[in-house]
Amino acid sequence: MRVKKEMKLIVRNWLTRLTIFGASALFAGAALAGGDPAAGEAQSAACGACHGADGATGLDPTYPNLAGQNEKYLYEQLKAIKDKTRDIPLMAGQLDAKSDQDLMDMAAYYASLPAKMSQASGDDEAIAAAQQIYRAGIARKGVAACAACHNPNGAGNAQAGFPRINGQSAAYTEAQLKAYRERTRMTDETYGGMMRGVAEGLTDTEIALLADYLQGLH
Ligand code: HEC
Ligand code: HEC
Repeated sequence: MRVKKEMKLIVRNWLTRLTIFGASALFAGAALAGGDPAAGEAQSAACGACHGADGATGLDPTYPNLAGQNEKYLYEQLKAIKDKTRDIPLMAGQLDAKSDQDLMDMAAYYASLPAKMSQASGDDEAIAAAQQIYRAGIARKGVAACAACHNPNGAGNAQAGFPRINGQSAAYTEAQLKAYRERTRMTDETYGGMMRGVAEGLTDTEIALLADYLQGLH
């Protein structure tokens, strides 16, 4: 119970800071030196087998689109995958030989590719229910509005490193929201665990509705 309350405070704190200062002031010191997309492309030959040659047509619906994701977020995830803070068995060994600069370059490469948009498959009622949560959250359960951090159109916040979540495959999104909720994904540690705080208020049904809705949001 105490942990839950703390989570809510952390999320509320961040939202307040974003509103007052804007992402640029908050993250000015944390700007990336910036990777080189061309060097990143050369490093990414093996990645296409799973994530698609265009970074957006993965081999399986549970494999994420990387194209058009923001550079800061991609770089942070690559570091976490490499040091197994985020353990992805399918990617075992993929990053072992990569330097920090290689990770930055690959992040810059995938960020430079055009994002893929898809479509929701739910009926009007399902889409309206998801949209309500996306835009307004669920006050009675302390679930913050997704739009506040991920942008009303789902494109994320590149400066803050908040990921793009629109156009992403529903199966992948669903798995991530459950992983935050069950605390098997802890990469939001640097952000005070804010996604765990959000996801722990969501039921399986709400997660499925949101994941489908996000595929078509743009
Ligand atoms: C054998 C398949 C496979 C290969 C090869 C592979 N990946 Fe992945 N990758 C995955 C899977 C599966 C996930 C998602 C796992 C999960 O559910 O968390 C993932 C997740 C990611 C993520 C996190 C995306 C997000 O939205 O958080 C990044 C970044 C990534 N991969 C980059 C790469 C790069 C760069 C390479 C090449 C060096 C690569 N991957 C090679 C299967 C693969
Ligand atoms: C207070 C800000 C905030 C709010 C509110 C928020 N998010 Fe997030 N979200 C983040 C951050 C920061 C991350 C990246 C954390 C990390 O590094 O793992 C993230 C990550 C995600 C991811 C993983 C993306 C990927 O590629 O793996 C999904 C999916 C997601 N959020 C969906 C949602 C949904 C749906 C809601 C609303 C119910 C929501 N978020 C509300 C900040 C927020």
